[in-house]
Parts: sequence; C-alpha cells; structure tokens
Amino acid sequence: MKVTVVGAGAVGASCAEYIAIKNFASEVVLLDIKEGYAEGKAMDLMQTASLNGFDTKITGVTNDYSKTAGSDICVITSGIPRKPGMTREELIGINAGIVKDVSSNLVKNSPKTIIIVVSNPMDTMAYLVHKTSGLDKNKIIGMGGALDSARFKYRLAEALDAPISDVDGMVIGGHSDTGMVPLTRLATRNSVPVSKFISEERLNQVMEDTKVGGATLTKLLGTSAWYAPGAAVSALVQAIACDQKKMFPCSVMLDGEYGMKDICIGAPVILGRNGIEKIVELELNDAEKAHMKESAEGVRSVNDLLEL
Ligand SMILES: NC(=O)c1ccc[n+]([C@@H]2O[C@H](COP(=O)([O-])OP(=O)(O)OC[C@H]3O[C@@H](n4cnc5c(N)ncnc54)[C@H](O)[C@@H]3O)[C@@H](O)[C@H]2O)c1
Repeated sequence: MKVTVVGAGAVGASCAEYIAIKNFASEVVLLDIKEGYAEGKAMDLMQTASLNGFDTKITGVTNDYSKTAGSDICVITSGIPRKPGMTREELIGINAGIVKDVSSNLVKNSPKTIIIVVSNPMDTMAYLVHKTSGLDKNKIIGMGGALDSARFKYRLAEALDAPISDVDGMVIGGHSDTGMVPLTRLATRNSVPVSKFISEERLNQVMEDTKVGGATLTKLLGTSAWYAPGAAVSALVQAIACDQKKMFPCSVMLDGEYGMKDICIGAPVILGRNGIEKIVELELNDAEKAHMKESAEGVRSVNDLLEL
C-alpha cells in the first residue's frame, strides 16, 4: 500500500504522521514544491519511527512525481490555507491552479489511484478534480465532513458533559462556515437522542460552534488547524487501504442523490478498497432539506468561479 501526500505543510505532514503511526501502509511519499521541505519533514518523521513503533517508510521529494508512481491513494493538501478573517472560498484563485496541476501529475504517474482532496475550498476543488482528471467518480473523495463531524462530536460532548466516545453525530453539506449541515436531530448519546439531555437552545449553540469550528481555530492559531484535519484524512486513507467499509460524510459527486446533480457536496458514503462504494441517502426533514439546498447553492456559486 503506497500513499502519496502532496503538500508537506501543516496538514500534509500531520496526515503522514497519523498514517505512519497507525502502521497500515508500507510507504508514504511526501511531495512539496518547496526545495528540500518534504525531504526534511520525511526525515524528521522517520526519526520518530523507533519511538512510535511503526514500520511505514516515509520519503520526501521536491516536485518529482516519478517517485509517486504506482500510488494506491494520493492526498492533495497543497495550496494556501486561510488566515484569520478569511473564508475558505477566498482561496480559490490560487488553489484551483495548484490542485489542477497536481492532480494531473498524480494521475499521469498513478493512473489507477484514488484521490482524496483536502485543499480549500474543498468541495469546489473536488469538483475540479472530477472535471479535469479523467478518474472514475468513486475514486475522487473530498475530505471535509469527517473533520466537521469530529468537531461536532467534540462540541456535543462538551455540551453534554460526556466523554466523546459516548456521542455520535454527523455533519453533511458543504465544507464552509455557512454550508455545513450538522444533523442535530440524529445526534445521539449511546443511541439516545441528545435532545433528551440538552435544551434546543444549547443544541443550536453546538450547531453554530461546529460550523465555525475551523474559523475559531484559525483565529487562535493565526493559520488553519492541522491535527484534526490530518487525523480525519488518515481515517479515510485507512478505511480505503484496509477495505473497512466505514461510513464517513465526504464530498462526493452526486448524480440524483439528495435531488442534486453535477455537484460535489458532503453526504454519507461507504469507503472501501474501491474508494466510494456507496452513497447513503438519509431521510431528511424539511428544515434539513432546505439547509442542504441552501448549502448547495453556496457550493455552486464557488464552482461557477472555476475556469473549466
Ligand atoms: N478540507 C479540510 O477539512 C481542510 C482542513 C484544513 C486545511 N485545509 C486546507 O488544506 C490546505 C493546506 O493547509 P496547510 O495548513 O497544510 O497549509 P501549509 O501552507 O502549511 O502547507 C501547504 C503546502 O503546500 C505546498 N505547495 C504549494 N503549492 C504546491 C504545489 N504546486 N505542489 C506541491 N506542493 C505545493 C506548500 O509549499 C506548503 O508546504 C489549505 O488549502 C487549507 O485550507 C483543508
């Protein structure tokens, strides 16, 4: 199992670290455009191997795609992150060019690869890879909902004063401050609806805190977060590599599901060795449907900025 991670910055390196620590991949190639940067990150990470007990071989390369050849899974984290006060959508001008170029180089060297898109604005970047890479639709996965759901569970556990392992919940919709649809109605504590434990007002607060989860961290850190994004990507990579058939909300190209077509947006999917093996259609209520529709309009307005 060979995994390439493009972009050896904060998220790329964190993702490589979690993949290595979980010890399921034989090889991780880190690639960055900055001279020597990926090589340095790879060497530093390899020097944690004897301490953290993993055998995954991590190598770093400067823009040399021949070293990524034969990758089973490629992760795209290259591009600029947002600064405090910025929206993810504002990154499109720079990141669209980078993501298009990177995905074409990856597919040239690994025609059978599965691509996980992380760079923002992620739903639009996933759409761009669909339109330009020539890969089958089950092989292009946008990572956003797995992270947003982890943040949702963190906020739910906080509100319930419960351990995170007691709570479950999912965020679908667009990966943006306004587009996320945290499914509060379906969130549970050990299969009991969370509304049994907290007021509607507190639950609405959980929803709002979840939606601005990334912005809150960007304000604190001065740049966007990396631990939870890296962990979320590594969970998707592991689900595919180990054929786990796990369900995650991911940005997926819809073709009629949820009443939408020709859009990449967050919906629950089953991930296994073939990438997206199934899109799970939930019965949404009217408010959730309206929220999804509004979210899709936001994603489409960013997609319209692409020069395809
Ligand atoms: N989808 C999500 O949930 C999620 C979460 C966090 C961050 N992000 C996004 O991930 C991206 C990376 O964030 P980060 O914090 O790691 O940024 P970063 O600046 O730390 O790292 C980005 C890296 O990409 C490299 N790069 C730029 N152009 C490249 C190219 N053409 N080829 C190869 N490498 C190139 C840079 O040299 C840099 O090392 C951003 O767009 C950010 O918004 C997405």
